[in-house]
Amino acid sequence: MQAYNTDMKKNSIPLPLLGGLSPDQFFSEYWHKKPLVIRQAIPGFSPLLTSEELFELAGLDDVESRLITFFKERWEMKNGPINKIPVKEKKDWTLLVQGVNLHDEAADDLLRQFSFIPDARLDDLMISYAADGGGVGPHFDSYDVFLLQAHGQRQWKIGAQTDLSLVEGMPLKILKNFTPEQEFILEPGDMLYLPPQYAHDGVAIGECMTYSIGFRAPSFQELGESFLSFMTDTIELPGRYADPELKPTANPAEISDDMVDKIAEQIAKITFSPEDIAIFIGEYLSEPKASVYFDSPEKPLSPKRFGQSAQKRGIKLSLKSSMLYKGKHVFINGESFAVGQEDAKLLTKLADERCLSGEDLAETTPDVLEAFCLWYEDGWLQLR
Ligand code: SIN
Ligand code: CO
Repeated sequence: MQAYNTDMKKNSIPLPLLGGLSPDQFFSEYWHKKPLVIRQAIPGFSPLLTSEELFELAGLDDVESRLITFFKERWEMKNGPINKIPVKEKKDWTLLVQGVNLHDEAADDLLRQFSFIPDARLDDLMISYAADGGGVGPHFDSYDVFLLQAHGQRQWKIGAQTDLSLVEGMPLKILKNFTPEQEFILEPGDMLYLPPQYAHDGVAIGECMTYSIGFRAPSFQELGESFLSFMTDTIELPGRYADPELKPTANPAEISDDMVDKIAEQIAKITFSPEDIAIFIGEYLSEPKASVYFDSPEKPLSPKRFGQSAQKRGIKLSLKSSMLYKGKHVFINGESFAVGQEDAKLLTKLADERCLSGEDLAETTPDVLEAFCLWYEDGWLQLR
């Protein structure tokens, strides 16, 4: 009850990040409902990475990036790694770099400022660099997004249109009939929140950088298909088809009602509980994206030395690790563990805070310390 009260209080405190709204107010009035322009959401904000550092990231194999150009009035898109960046003096191009938080500590810290939104909904921090006139065209996204202006100015046009038809044959989503209702210019530190399906077009005025804090909302089709594949690992249907009562047939190609009934009876034994669904969700949502590679320590400490150091210095999750929990089930990077009450306390703290102090680890059970050591060897966590 204590924690519940503390959380309730925390979420009713006004945040400059939300323009003086509390998370409670923001959720009831804006989230998933209508846009919000927040002037100086982060006063005095300056970019976390230079454009050159961003260009370097875009050239890496394990970073998702796209180069979008509108040269000679023609949209073109190239998927990364991007090694040839147009010169800054050339107009009408933009570079988008996805998942910067997986590679940069400060970008991760920025993302964590939005931790009043559950991690299970959080996707990533995308950074765009645009030359003068650059943008991705009028479009809509299927996700909620906060667009933080990091450098330079961007002119936004937005509209609540229901006609979301797209121009056919384009390499990216471009609205056929964009009808903006509002327009404004965002300066560094300003932020625009947009709910899903809200039409928008952001055009750079001079060179600019915009940070998109994006959220994930998997389609039900995608969830259903993944759930069925999760179930293949968990179902148990012992026995084999048998028909001791079989009679001779005059129609050898026909499948009998008896066969259908017998198999239907067995298939009906496949059931799943809310707990199975919770385990599926945890594994599914904590699964790293295909492009993610963990960096193992070059010379890992022995388990004994690791344990000693962890209990002295503490540990922190790697930027690339995703950790969630539900009740006694703890999920990390697509794997799940059912843990006892004491271990759950420690592991849920690690998941929420993404780090533990040496003090937190003083009373750890050998099982947990052993798991931490394996995660350390896999690059899932590090010593602080
Ligand atoms: C951008 O930063 O250029 C694109 C952001 C968006 O419109 O979703
Ligand atoms: Co968008």
